[in-house]
Amino acid sequence: MKQIKGTTKVCGLIGNPVEHSISPLIHNSLAELENVDLAYATFKVDKGGIEDAIKGAYALNILGMNVTVPYKEDVIAALADIDPLAKRIGAVNTLVRTEGGFKGYNTDITGLHRQLIDAGIEISGSDVIILGAGGAARAIAFLCARENADSVYILNRTSEKAEQLAKEVNESLNVDFVHGMRLEDHRSLPDKKFVTIQTTSVGLKPNEDAAPIEDIDFYDKVSVGVDIIYNPYKTKFMRMVENSGKQAYNGLKMLLYQGVSAFELWNNIEVSEESAVRVYELMIKELDLDE
Ligand code: ATR
Repeated sequence: MKQIKGTTKVCGLIGNPVEHSISPLIHNSLAELENVDLAYATFKVDKGGIEDAIKGAYALNILGMNVTVPYKEDVIAALADIDPLAKRIGAVNTLVRTEGGFKGYNTDITGLHRQLIDAGIEISGSDVIILGAGGAARAIAFLCARENADSVYILNRTSEKAEQLAKEVNESLNVDFVHGMRLEDHRSLPDKKFVTIQTTSVGLKPNEDAAPIEDIDFYDKVSVGVDIIYNPYKTKFMRMVENSGKQAYNGLKMLLYQGVSAFELWNNIEVSEESAVRVYELMIKELDLDE
């Protein structure tokens, strides 16, 4: 049992709900493994209370915060500073104490980037498909544009949202290679191999028997698949990618690395590979995932 002392650094999660978050496990385990005297708790914040919560956290000398649904956008107004990529994305999930206030970052996206690098997936110069056009797709589209992908196709059930997102990314980063289209028009994609990132909620437990695109021909165009879902551990999308002979990854490493990156920002350290692997194993156990 950890001994909390007068000098113990305090971090935590702001959101609503927060009760089922895996973040306390991630950060308290990292603290123990990396020998950092830090305790991490959750703070449920009621609607309308985000600004007071941030001010209060700062006044209480809290070192860092994670921010989750529904405050990732609203929190920005309460920050002293913001990382440029997080600003473009318009969503912040990590706050780091600085002089005069908190600075906001988006480690959801740096976490995904780290997962991709880990898996040897290069975005620069690649053709990328993003399935979905919600919050996660938005962050990934900005990352792909910043990393100079060769082309990015955002495919969404509601094509207007995909087109709108593509337009926004192109304008914001002054590029022209991001395209939006209807999910069911996938047959009109260029004849290339795409790094394909699945961000829709299709396939999420308990609807495990669904994939956003069921047409097996689509998977010929996939060079490698990444699903941001991790429950189930292997989604139907991932199975379809594998059945066409390619590698597929779930979203658990993204979740791990968003935490690792936040922990590193708060403590100015580099978390060891061994600690990251250990926390990954603990997450699988805690989430009761069948590998
Ligand atoms: P997140 O923030 O995790 O990205 P979100 O913003 O709620 O979540 O986005 C959910 C995504 O899943 C959207 O792209 C949504 O498509 P629409 O914009 O058309 O709603 C997609 N989605 C949800 N259910 C879907 C379904 N049955 N078939 C196809 N796409 C679906």
